[in-house]
Amino acid sequence: MTQGKLTAEEIARMPRGGPDASWINRRLQTRRPEITDRYDISDELKQKVIGTLDRFGERFGLHTLNAQMVLDQVAELDNPRILELGAGHGGVSAEILRLHPSAEVTVSDLDPASVSNIAASPLGRHPRCTVKLIDATKIDEPENSFDLVVFAVSMHHLPPQDVAQVIADATRVGKKFLVIDLERPSTLGILLAPLMFIPTAVAVMMVSPPSAVPPFLHDSLIGTLRAYSRSAFKALGTAADPDMVVEFAPGTRSLPWIPVVFSRPTGAGESERDNVEQSH
Ligand SMILES: C[S@@+](CC[C@H](N)C(=O)[O-])C[C@H]1O[C@@H](n2cnc3c(N)ncnc32)[C@H](O)[C@@H]1O
Repeated sequence: MTQGKLTAEEIARMPRGGPDASWINRRLQTRRPEITDRYDISDELKQKVIGTLDRFGERFGLHTLNAQMVLDQVAELDNPRILELGAGHGGVSAEILRLHPSAEVTVSDLDPASVSNIAASPLGRHPRCTVKLIDATKIDEPENSFDLVVFAVSMHHLPPQDVAQVIADATRVGKKFLVIDLERPSTLGILLAPLMFIPTAVAVMMVSPPSAVPPFLHDSLIGTLRAYSRSAFKALGTAADPDMVVEFAPGTRSLPWIPVVFSRPTGAGESERDNVEQSH
């Protein structure tokens, strides 16, 4: 990874609110992991959160919105090849395959339990789907083997140095890299986040048993404190490659999500892409 003008230490210390984050905003971040990132707890508890996210996404149309944002990025291609990182439950990839008649999807996650659940599901048996265990910070796929790489609602799980690494790797294996993630609220917004606990708890209970509420609220709060701002994404994209193009696609009005598209400058990697296509 080229680190642009930032040293590795400066990247690691990048505030979630970006290089110009205020003193208080810098204090309102945490290194505490979410439940889905911990390996000292049961798969059962982790899958309770993942299952709730899946049913939540289905019930409130979030998988469809995410899948549509993915398909908007490859609209000009007849047979787009898409890699989903951090798929968790696979709901977004399943929706991509439902909405597009010929897209091919590689669906992946770091968590072996999630990967084996997806492999055993109808998505895992879909003829246009491949299921893989992939750590987004160590993607071992050929250059330009995908038209688009997507990482949905997951980037905030990673520390800044890993974010820069994922951006570098994902734009090596894919022509474009779409990150859909929580947008870091303003400082006041972060302080007021607990006010959302009651509506969120009610929404969770519409799709899961009450026992899913505490772990879900825990991860929602940690997620808010760990969310990156637009300026942080810009700085980390440039840290991955000083020539990185960082664009903010139109989001969804009703959701606090930010779709960011990272790509290397036009033309870069085209010849490698042709080589990969010829060797298939
Ligand atoms: C909040 S869940 C999001 C699941 C799904 N993408 C969605 O939109 O609901 C975060 C996911 O990121 C995965 N994850 C965290 N770190 C990762 C990494 N380094 N590489 C790949 N996946 C990772 C977790 O295992 C988890 O499934």
